[in-house]
Amino acid sequence: MTAAERPGPVDQLVTDTVEVSVPASSANLGPGFDSLGLALAFRDTIRVEVADRLEITVEGSGAGEVALDESHLVHRAMAATFAQLGRAVPPVRLTCRNRIPHGRGLGSSSAAIVGGIVAARALVPGGSLVLDDRAALDLAGRLEGHADNVAPALLGGFTIAYDGPEGYAATRLAVDPRVRVVVLIPAEAVKTTTARALLPDEVPHVDAATNAARAALLVAALTGQPELLMAATEDRLHQEYRRSAMPGTCDLVARLRADQVPAVISGAGPSVLAFVDESDTARVLAAAPEGWQARALHIDLDGARIC
Ligand code: HSE
Repeated sequence: MTAAERPGPVDQLVTDTVEVSVPASSANLGPGFDSLGLALAFRDTIRVEVADRLEITVEGSGAGEVALDESHLVHRAMAATFAQLGRAVPPVRLTCRNRIPHGRGLGSSSAAIVGGIVAARALVPGGSLVLDDRAALDLAGRLEGHADNVAPALLGGFTIAYDGPEGYAATRLAVDPRVRVVVLIPAEAVKTTTARALLPDEVPHVDAATNAARAALLVAALTGQPELLMAATEDRLHQEYRRSAMPGTCDLVARLRADQVPAVISGAGPSVLAFVDESDTARVLAAAPEGWQARALHIDLDGARIC
């Protein structure tokens, strides 16, 4: 049955099938807590087909672990998008092919949220006009609770996200082409809620001031002065507070930094993000402890896209 032959709201959809891919992302980048983010060149894909009933299949990361009902994050994001567009979400067959590991600080939940929003708005006539990227980012940020991963997942590249007068917003900057990254991924996941629960309600003023300077410096470093990356990736707001949940991660960050590699916790952890250039990629890949995966990645410049 085609979309045109279906009764009810389905016959008002643009198409009955849409496929979206969304990049992984790394947030914080050291001092830019809940703000800075970088899209990484490996992707989840989500296929949505209008169907007679809800059916969800997950392949790859999260298969056999995540719920396959309305509570699935992609479906929740689709439902929120349809609601914002004044529609009820139709029954769909949802196929998620996940490459981004879950619970590792690489933006898997943001990719699910952004993928659900971008797929849903592509189904509704005029969806991308009513819910443009600015509105989509705000919706994604509200679903996620902060916008530092959803911004690069949606827009690609290096993003500065903030909570503005009209909701979550972000600006995107061009990254110096010399900047590459290596991600080092441990076998064990850590929940973001666990990592956030370790943060104090208050921090010393000197630490906040240090982070403000480093975050500003990081913008300069990533956009044209990568030689500043060591100084620019120092953090005092979150990384050490999270040590008890990820001691191996903090040790690896310290080891790499002692070796002059600008390394940070990726997002809420427990993966490590290291900035590299061509000459030191191999030695950083070789620094992965036993049982960890290491991947050299380009920065994704596209963000979420319809396949
Ligand atoms: N800024 C967030 C945190 C990233 O560090 O908790 C996780 O989404």
